[in-house]
Amino acid sequence: MSGGFETVSLSADKKELVIIDQTLLPGKRVFLSLKTKEEIFEAIRSLRVRGAPAIGVAAAIGIYVCSLDYYQNARDDFEAEIIAAADYIGSARPTAVNLRWAVERMKHTLTSHSGENAEMVLDALLAAAEGIYREDIECSRRIGEYGLPLLRGCSSVLTHCNAGRLAAVKYGTATAPIYLAHENGIDIRVYCDETRPLMQGARLTSFELSDAGIPVTLLCDNMAGSAMRNGMIDAVIVGCDRVAANGDFANKIGTSMVALCAREYGIPFYVAAPRSTIDMDTENGKQIIIEQRDSDEVTDMWFAQRTAPKGIDVYNPAFDVTDASLVTAFITDAGVVYPPFSENLLVVQEVK
Ligand code: MRU
Repeated sequence: MSGGFETVSLSADKKELVIIDQTLLPGKRVFLSLKTKEEIFEAIRSLRVRGAPAIGVAAAIGIYVCSLDYYQNARDDFEAEIIAAADYIGSARPTAVNLRWAVERMKHTLTSHSGENAEMVLDALLAAAEGIYREDIECSRRIGEYGLPLLRGCSSVLTHCNAGRLAAVKYGTATAPIYLAHENGIDIRVYCDETRPLMQGARLTSFELSDAGIPVTLLCDNMAGSAMRNGMIDAVIVGCDRVAANGDFANKIGTSMVALCAREYGIPFYVAAPRSTIDMDTENGKQIIIEQRDSDEVTDMWFAQRTAPKGIDVYNPAFDVTDASLVTAFITDAGVVYPPFSENLLVVQEVK
């Protein structure tokens, strides 16, 4: 992989959370060093760091750096301050379960070391945050290894949004099999939906894949059906923010339309998901909370001039739910999961 930058990491002196500011890509590569809970919340909320796995890792490292700051500033109620920071950071976005998962893991680490001296608590939190970071790389790599055989014979795939290295620590999820294919000298062309309204496909996926030397073609979201009908797409791979126990899943708005087109044209539709994205406590897609975002993302954000009348009502859900029935398989870090998902997602959760 090229592009010597990390999406999210702990600074070399282990005092700050470092992220590449994704709101400025592809034009500028600016790195931000964050250490207060307010800065970390803002970075997640405004998508400076985004993508389900990446916000989980950012939260874990963020909670550690906040804890260090509380310790160094001799805050009175050290443990209570950490819990408050964790809950605050965890409330930045509601849909991706990885954020809650990472926050709960850090809180659990804290409670299991509660009452020990502060240095020991800090050591445990650091080990937990570094563990989540390393596991993310490992999960992406395994998703790539399990996904690669599914792409045998495919010369083109379509993806939606960015489930690439910018959405994780390395490799990404949906892009992991593509990066691995590239490492093995096989180039698969990626058709990349621009992904209205926040343009993650145009700004991020087409940037990171072309940066890595992978052939990529950008298309507007409303062109995906036509590309499929014209025989240009051999498979679809997307990432996800939350998989419910029955296999319904939430991902970037527009994903369900892509899945419906894929079904219509007989194209396999794969969903890449680390097991931290599977939420067995959510029975089905109806229970997934969908984040609603500001209207100016639709009317103003990427345009030199407003595209709609002032004051117009705007519907701007950040994610949608795709029915399990449209999914060919989930590619997880513990193997490929085929229907019936209610049974097989449970099985894959048990794999060590
Ligand atoms: O709003 P975003 O940019 O955080 O949405 C990201 C997505 O929908 C991704 O597809 C998903 O998080 C999977 S990332 C591996």
